[in-house]
Amino acid sequence: MDTHAHPVAPQTDDLLGQEAISASVQDAYRAVIGAKTAVAARLYDPEQLAVLPRGAIEQALGVGNPVRAAGLRPGEVVIDLGCGGGIDTILAARGVLPGGTAIGLDVLPGMLEVAARNAADAGVTNVRWLRGGMEAIPLPDEGVDVIVSNGVVNLSPRKSRVFAEMYRILRPGGRFSVADIVLDDDLPPQIATDPAAWAG
Ligand SMILES: C[S@@+](CC[C@H](N)C(=O)[O-])C[C@H]1O[C@@H](n2cnc3c(N)ncnc32)[C@H](O)[C@@H]1O
Repeated sequence: MDTHAHPVAPQTDDLLGQEAISASVQDAYRAVIGAKTAVAARLYDPEQLAVLPRGAIEQALGVGNPVRAAGLRPGEVVIDLGCGGGIDTILAARGVLPGGTAIGLDVLPGMLEVAARNAADAGVTNVRWLRGGMEAIPLPDEGVDVIVSNGVVNLSPRKSRVFAEMYRILRPGGRFSVADIVLDDDLPPQIATDPAAWAG
């Protein structure tokens, strides 16, 4: 009898659970498309809120105000990773006028539809929308000047990959302004291994 029997390997290629985490994160955000939140009033300046359409304000799901810290200049190309309903993409688009462009990237087509509607309501036309994951950004190397992101990098089970992609798409001398959640201690294992906790 083999007294050193190993546990049976799970019948999956997703050995690190990354696909399960991503699927759970996407389910969680798909469920809040069109839901109304109250976070924007806490995070944005009154002057910013005054020029944003109500749809963008109500769909805000971020944790900070990355555009305020980005120091955007006319003519720059800026990408908003995980743009959601587009609140920061719209502010960024205004911040790079004249001549600049803002790109909103999100993994969920439904979020991009909301964002495009909000940008149209805001009268912003120097935007484009890109469906994709921040772990494999569908853009060429060194094509953007600035990356902004608000409450999104923490959602990825492949954060090193996200930072590698950010480095790849930034022009030399480019910069990023990211508002996010940072851990300063280990999470208890029951939270660290719970796919639902990633989305929350
Ligand atoms: C917490 S919400 C933040 C939305 C927006 N940045 C804001 O401040 O309102 C997270 C967003 O990231 C998107 N997302 C989640 N995982 C992603 C990934 N791997 N790549 C791109 N977008 C992702 C979700 O669909 C959702 O729109």
